Amino acid sequence: MLEFQVYPTYEHLSRAAADVVVSTLQTKPDAVICLPSGSTPVGMFRELILRHEQGLADFSQCTFVGLDEWIGMGPEDEGSGHQLLDRDFLHPIGFRSEQVLFFDARADDLHAECERINRALEELGGLDLIVLGIGMNGHLGLNEPGTSFDTYAHVSELDPITIEVGQKYFQGPTTLTGGVTLGLRHMMEARRLVLMASGEAKAPVIARAVNGEVTETFPASLVQEHSDAWVLVDADAASALL
Ligand code: PGA
Repeated sequence: MLEFQVYPTYEHLSRAAADVVVSTLQTKPDAVICLPSGSTPVGMFRELILRHEQGLADFSQCTFVGLDEWIGMGPEDEGSGHQLLDRDFLHPIGFRSEQVLFFDARADDLHAECERINRALEELGGLDLIVLGIGMNGHLGLNEPGTSFDTYAHVSELDPITIEVGQKYFQGPTTLTGGVTLGLRHMMEARRLVLMASGEAKAPVIARAVNGEVTETFPASLVQEHSDAWVLVDADAASALL
């Protein structure tokens, strides 16, 4: 089932996404949740930090799973997924290291590292909630166009659009050689999936995700096949549909 909600502003969207995270934790305090790094979720993180400070959100028993990472980068690297998440969410909330499952994208054997993540997630019983942004090419995490819907964590070859758009996370031009990412199968198997988008630039990809053909050439179209998917967008990101 696909739920599509349009909010007037980015702030409204961020609060709605935070509501989903908080209600998941209220139902299941030890939930396994995956939240993305990037620009889109920053407002949701601010809202979650606020609610945590007000005693309205309890993250003490949950497990946080990182979505993806650029190959060769770790938490010390400016612009890495892990660094952004530490800064924007994990440190302010005070997550303990044993609550966090994250790719080591500097591992010598990245395939073995992906297997480690797959096994750990399986042992945790899978994801209760995954929150995702959407790429300008329809990617989810670093599942690039053409990725099979059947993949779990894997090494990803980056699409040229991802390499170009990804520069926004870094101070200067940065060579991005590849990624490691949870797979589309993880997303399909997550008990609830939230896809967030903000801004006019995302309007065409949101329209295609919810109304276009379901196809591996456009990974975000899988939301149409998910049993409990919510697409939450602001008015600008909905503008190709309204
Ligand atoms: P963004 O990234 O939130 O920084 O736009 C989304 C994505 O590429 O998945």
